[in-house]
Amino acid sequence: MCGITGYIGEQQATPVLLEGLKKLEYRGYDSAGIALQTGQGVVVCKEKGRIADLTKMVDLNVQSTAGIGHTRWATHGVPDRKNSHPHQSQSGRFTLVHNGVIENYLQLQRDYLQEVEMISDTDTEVIVQLIEKLSSEEVSTEAAFRKALTLLHGSYAIAMLDEQDPDTLYIAKNRSPLLVGVGADCRVVASDAMAMLQVTDQFIELHDEEMVLLRKDEVKIFTLGGERMERALYTAQLDQSDLEKGTYPHYMLKEMDEQPTVIRKIVDAYSNESGKLSIDSKVLQAFKGADRLYIIAAGTSYHAGLIGKQYFEKFAGIPVEVHISSEFGYNMPLLSKKPLFLFITQSGETADSRQVLVKVKALGYPTVTLTNVQGSTLSRESDHTLLLHAGPEIAVASTKAYVAQVAVLAICAYACGESDLELKKELSIAANAIQTVLDSKEDVRKVVEETLTDTRNAFFIGRNLDFYVSLEGALKLKEISYIQAEGFAGGELKHGTIALIEEGTPVFALATQRDVSPNIRGNVKEVTARGAKTSIFSIEGIQEEGDRFVLPHVHELLTPLVAVIPFQLISYYAALQRECDVDQPRNLAKSVTVE
Ligand code: F6R
Repeated sequence: MCGITGYIGEQQATPVLLEGLKKLEYRGYDSAGIALQTGQGVVVCKEKGRIADLTKMVDLNVQSTAGIGHTRWATHGVPDRKNSHPHQSQSGRFTLVHNGVIENYLQLQRDYLQEVEMISDTDTEVIVQLIEKLSSEEVSTEAAFRKALTLLHGSYAIAMLDEQDPDTLYIAKNRSPLLVGVGADCRVVASDAMAMLQVTDQFIELHDEEMVLLRKDEVKIFTLGGERMERALYTAQLDQSDLEKGTYPHYMLKEMDEQPTVIRKIVDAYSNESGKLSIDSKVLQAFKGADRLYIIAAGTSYHAGLIGKQYFEKFAGIPVEVHISSEFGYNMPLLSKKPLFLFITQSGETADSRQVLVKVKALGYPTVTLTNVQGSTLSRESDHTLLLHAGPEIAVASTKAYVAQVAVLAICAYACGESDLELKKELSIAANAIQTVLDSKEDVRKVVEETLTDTRNAFFIGRNLDFYVSLEGALKLKEISYIQAEGFAGGELKHGTIALIEEGTPVFALATQRDVSPNIRGNVKEVTARGAKTSIFSIEGIQEEGDRFVLPHVHELLTPLVAVIPFQLISYYAALQRECDVDQPRNLAKSVTVE
């Protein structure tokens, strides 16, 4: 949440900062700004709105080879110009961008800044005002910066300019992602390497509670205690073309279309030399050594975790609990004797999941992170990482990462057990089935036209694995089309929610599970009798006349991989029909780095 860019070097900073911010827009997009060192002072340009709006406002005639940029997801204060970053100190000497949340900002304001008139409603402004205040007491900006950081409680990624020191960017990180990049004639900083691939693929990881003095040919990393740290460069394994939409109108459509390829890549990545599906032997040992697996995740990743539970229990006989990460911290269950914690997180940055990781690590429990982003915070901080191999997911609504999570969970569980299932073959059948559904987009578009045109709500129902896919279908629909949607276990409807069914209410029912297919069809009859407009999504082998969409046959345990596809497409076409911003829905951000 919130994206930061910074550049200091030989080239003009503005285009690099703006291009970087465009790549970071997935992290937040309610306002944006840049600040440039000009030699005669710092020029700030910021406004409510998207990077495209900022780009139109920026004066390209301003000459500058050092600057910082920010794209915001509001936490403190409404999205408007006054709350947009960069923020400046009272005299204008210091200019700063921040991602994170300063928990003690009101206390700091009371203790240090009573005489300072705050311009914004943000916690960020307190940091920059504090640095100005401390700069009058400390010997250098470096010392004032360090002192201020030691007073902050909370999470931060910070980049700062000092008007009186145009050759330095002041950088700091604690519990919010930030990387330093090393280019041929520049040094850069960004929340995500993809923002700076335009100038370099060489990066340096920063650790929590570190600060950096960045000059055009120098990176000096220090702990907050003042100890100098040396750290090697790594090469970002990202392909610029993965980050582009190409001819697609939306990233979401491109990413949905990539799903068959993602499954095939996963099968390749998790095949050993003899062609058998396998996982790293240390991770395997960790799973096998556990008497209970605790899956911790949020949102779509949580929905994948619910499916993963069935895989681990059925394939490997390992009991599993699945927990919503934001709840786990204050409602920790009684743990088993030998627990293993599995964090599922596309971004690897989700603060809710990370707070659990920090707690269970402190208790000494082993941890594995299943993520799409190598080197992300959760990946670095857990004992083991399993990768999703889905390629960058840019659309805020997760699609290919969900499918990748389900596939990798199936492989891990399978590797831990002794099943006669030919999983490799079944996954390849599932990849082909996904392709078949993707090829039927027009049909799904018609379902949307028939059912969702004038509705204000919709229901997704299913039983067994179909229930979990229904939860995901409802989440997708609400997040990008803003239609109130609920996913329900078919059997639960009559315990209250059926009261909401009225003439024309759309109900999408999944019927891919043979044993419970008659039951879910019974639920469909109940809601149809009360006026609902129902559409059944069944699967070859158990389809019945009148089903709205029949999915190609796949192994019953792998149906979630295929059944989710029409639901993703429904949400996409519903969002288009309502002229919503598909890739950047309101109020959301891709990487949720605040708790
Ligand atoms: C929905 C979506 C979110 C994320 C959730 C967790 O489409 O993407 O619900 O799944 O914010 O994010 P990660 O997986 O990055 O931890």
